[in-house]
Amino acid sequence: MALRPYIVGNWKMNGTRSMLSEARSIDRSAQRLMKVEVALAPPYTLIHPVHREAEQIGVGAQDCHHEVEGAHTGDISATMLADAGAKFVILGHSERRQNHGETDELVNAKCHAAISAGLKLIVCCGEAEETRNAGNAESFVIAQLRTSLPETLDDAAERLAVAYEPIWAIGTGRTATTDDIAAMHGAIRALLIERFGEEQGGVVRILYGGSVKPENAREILETADVGGALVGGASLTAESFLGIVAAGADVQES
Ligand code: PGA
Repeated sequence: MALRPYIVGNWKMNGTRSMLSEARSIDRSAQRLMKVEVALAPPYTLIHPVHREAEQIGVGAQDCHHEVEGAHTGDISATMLADAGAKFVILGHSERRQNHGETDELVNAKCHAAISAGLKLIVCCGEAEETRNAGNAESFVIAQLRTSLPETLDDAAERLAVAYEPIWAIGTGRTATTDDIAAMHGAIRALLIERFGEEQGGVVRILYGGSVKPENAREILETADVGGALVGGASLTAESFLGIVAAGADVQES
């Protein structure tokens, strides 16, 4: 049975306490849009404040360290995130991979840390433009996920989502074609079934990310094997984010 569409806002390094009103507006509307599961990943400093505001939406983080505690100045562990009210963590975002040299092996270690802390996972993957132009997008993304994803996971359908985000589509206003999204999500689905079995792997939600906006959300969310969206820029105001949430509700109803 298909799960509700999952629409997740990734605020990246944006947001001070003045943005709590946006989170409140999103939460209050999300209460009216029960057909969609809505969540926000604000910067670390706002996780607890957003958690206190949120009655309906889920709150999560954008990264965590792979160890539980220790001498790691400036880092945050999965246990600390859970303590602050986070319910999930985004791991392996391409900005972490590019700006902080995160490897698939490190992302895998972070998955284990998050699972131990009781957090759900959103594991990101996606190819650079040169890789797509060379015709290697699918093999690259599948190899990335083979190593990044946990080897086993009970209740994977509930506890894991995968986000396919072509790097060249992030923050650029360009999106992959729905044919390319369907092909990539189909390949990811096959891997999820191989790893977690038909019953769980067959329903893990595969989110698309990369310049999702209210104007293109419906078409993307209607695409085969798209179970939601990971939204950056358009999640920063309640108005645009709720436009995407509404598109998710429409698709669910139709
Ligand atoms: P974008 O970012 O929606 O601004 O393209 C998506 C993401 O990086 O998660």
